[in-house]
Amino acid sequence: MKRVLLAAAVLAVGATTVVAQQEVAIQQQNLMKAQARSMYGVLGKMVKGDTPFDKAAADGALKALADDVAKIPTVFATNPKEGVKDATFGASQKIWQNKADFDAKVPAVTKAIGDAKVTDAASLKVAFDAVQAKCDSCHDTYRVKLK
Ligand code: HEC
Repeated sequence: MKRVLLAAAVLAVGATTVVAQQEVAIQQQNLMKAQARSMYGVLGKMVKGDTPFDKAAADGALKALADDVAKIPTVFATNPKEGVKDATFGASQKIWQNKADFDAKVPAVTKAIGDAKVTDAASLKVAFDAVQAKCDSCHDTYRVKLK
């Protein structure tokens, strides 16, 4: 009887861990998706000319982006050990082997956002490309394609 109870307890703990890991992976993906909404949904569209340049909207998106980027080290504190189900991209296990280096990629993004001098579509493009290069600098090492 004791053994059965123990087995049930072990199973329950195992299931909770899997759910928690999925939640962690989803939170991490949601943070990146929020960044993508500012970066591509707002700024990228203006850069491409799909939407007209709007200084207030650009400044708002840059501010939201800076706030989200600042959360990366904390949101990625835990290793979910698995990607979000059906996701295209996932976090490389290298992040948690080298968390200090991963976190060290963040200030460069914040600086590129802070340095943005946006007055028109042309200057927005310069800022956009500078920020994108810093996003890529982390993705190149720490983001893996799952499918
Ligand atoms: C310090 C590292 C780091 C930085 C900086 C970073 N990312 Fe990511 N990003 C990741 C990792 C790791 C993943 C894969 C795991 C995930 O999706 O959570 C990812 C995934 C993504 C994805 C795919 C999300 C999906 O739908 O699966 C997008 C979009 C993205 N990042 C946008 C950005 C943008 C835009 C910036 C710059 C403003 C940025 N990221 C900066 C680490 C970073």
